[in-house]
Amino acid sequence: PRVLLLFGGRSGEHAISCATAGGVLRAIDRDRYDVIPVGITPSGRWVGVDPDPDAWSITNGRLPQVADAPERVLLPQSTDERSAHVLADGLPPRDLGRIDVVFPLLHGPFGEDGTVQGMLELADLRYVGAGVLASAVGMDKQFMKLVLAGQGLPIGPYTVLRPGELDRDPDGVRARLEPLGLPLFVKPARAGSSLGITRVTDLADLPAAVAEAERHDPKVIIEAAIVGREIECAVLGSPGAQRARASLPGEIVVTDARHDFYDFEAKYLAEADVELSCPADLPADIIERVRDVAVRTFEAVDCEGLARVDVFVTEAGEVVVNEINTMPGFTPFSMYPRMWEASGLPYSQLVDELLQLALH
Ligand code: DAL
Ligand code: MG
Repeated sequence: PRVLLLFGGRSGEHAISCATAGGVLRAIDRDRYDVIPVGITPSGRWVGVDPDPDAWSITNGRLPQVADAPERVLLPQSTDERSAHVLADGLPPRDLGRIDVVFPLLHGPFGEDGTVQGMLELADLRYVGAGVLASAVGMDKQFMKLVLAGQGLPIGPYTVLRPGELDRDPDGVRARLEPLGLPLFVKPARAGSSLGITRVTDLADLPAAVAEAERHDPKVIIEAAIVGREIECAVLGSPGAQRARASLPGEIVVTDARHDFYDFEAKYLAEADVELSCPADLPADIIERVRDVAVRTFEAVDCEGLARVDVFVTEAGEVVVNEINTMPGFTPFSMYPRMWEASGLPYSQLVDELLQLALH
């Protein structure tokens, strides 16, 4: 099959997407798949790119980026198929030829949020991962919480700020924050990789935290801090009517005093002391509870293909859902593939399963 590997994109997670693509480019079985790597520049242009995986890794803190170089649009000829022809100029190049499946390795808005998925639906192209609705719900933390709570899944206390609300009605906002206690996590409603997130321990710091979140999204969500361990679980779709599968959970342990939570720096850049421990050292009954909640979260948003469900496990053994990520970070050292490795599914086989799920 011919696979269009799509990465980069317009969101703040552009570089993470490139690093993920590097991992997949290295692992994909070239005897089985004919791979066409296509990058989306930060401004949204689709261009043919270097298929060498080494070009896309995060090395020494250098973040890879799809360059806006029109002369490098080197796409295969021949186009008797309709794929992508319906789309406007500057979007998928017209001369892609036959494509059997698209792997949209995109994180954040304009990629993981249903927009690209909708475009691929219009073009009658099969693609890996969640569809339009699940992607959109997974990207918007407000609607994610509404959908999860509506189906009885455990979530933490939160409130949503409309654009400019803190300036217009500071007393009203403070009254709503009162029951959430401190610390608070102030987040852009639609972003990923912890971009724009601030942990607030003093309400005097709230305006700055809201302003920082607003740099990423006019809609801001404020969450109560959940006291507990940060546990993640990988979910993989199953063919047909079978239930999705959950991996063994992993745990994020941030032991670096410079990072008071698992922020962007700690995730990708610093030589911060972050331990991704997998499988997480948890009692068997808690592991089963986490896996059950992860699969139910996946199903609650009608997810397909893959997702990483992030939860907190409290002292009392309660599992509280933090969020679902419909296109989780996927470099070989990311949590999603590592949890599958620990569960007996190697990286290249995982990539193959995802493509096969999308093809059937
Ligand atoms: N948003 C990042 C890529 C993740 O969830 O892993
Ligand atoms: Mg996320």
